[in-house]
Amino acid sequence: MSELNLILLGPPGAGKGTQAERLRDEFELPHISTGDILRQAVADGTELGQTAKGYMDSGELVPDEVIIGVIIERLGEDDARDGFLLDGFPRTIGQADALADALGGLDRSLTAVLLIEVPDEEIVKRISGRRVNPESGRIYHVDYDPPREEGVDDVDGTPLIQREDDKPETVRNRLAVYHEQTAPLVAYYDDQGLLHRFDGTAAPNEVAGHIRATISTLRREEEI
Ligand code: AP5
Repeated sequence: MSELNLILLGPPGAGKGTQAERLRDEFELPHISTGDILRQAVADGTELGQTAKGYMDSGELVPDEVIIGVIIERLGEDDARDGFLLDGFPRTIGQADALADALGGLDRSLTAVLLIEVPDEEIVKRISGRRVNPESGRIYHVDYDPPREEGVDDVDGTPLIQREDDKPETVRNRLAVYHEQTAPLVAYYDDQGLLHRFDGTAAPNEVAGHIRATISTLRREEEI
């Protein structure tokens, strides 16, 4: 089967992680989330985590020279050889260029960039209600996607937490950073004919249905 090399793009809180959870098993793609990798590094107290923590807590991007090597190395692991679902990377033109170079060097290329669009006002509501399982990263929302029992993960019973960077003032900065540094990637990938847009204001399962249909079409096209 031909490989599917996909990027999930969109503002903080657009639902990238939520969609990745719904799609990764079905398409047998490793979900590579830079946010999850960095939060794990912070929790483990590694050098990467110590460098990243200050940037993350204030809603700034970790510098390109810190993150690019980590992700390129991750894409070289066995489970990503036949495709991947990247979430949260690239986030700058520099990261996108580095990714294209790395894939090109391996005679690989991107299949598609899936842009989830949600207006800023909705983002703030979503992020303030987000709760996560700190162990697995599983994502809930107190109103839009609640766990069966309040404050507890459905699958393994772990108490849910609110992320450090989900405070309103940090969210506002994350949005500003997105518009300034990440939004230029929309035109960058559109110009390459790779961009597919999705209305992220629909219910999570509806958004997943639209993305699923697009991926299935892409897969059929790759196989022709
Ligand atoms: P990261 O973890 O990547 O955060 P983000 O991009 O800001 O995205 P989020 O995880 O906040 O949101 P999401 O789109 O996954 O939404 P979710 O599915 O959770 O990055 C964190 C930090 O790490 C960055 O600020 C930066 O410092 C650093 N970093 C990461 N990558 C980097 C990089 N490449 N370069 C440099 N620095 C980097 O959904 C949000 C909420 O909404 C949930 O509660 C969910 O249940 C709910 N929801 C989801 N979909 C719907 C829907 N359709 N309707 C209603 N509610 C919904």
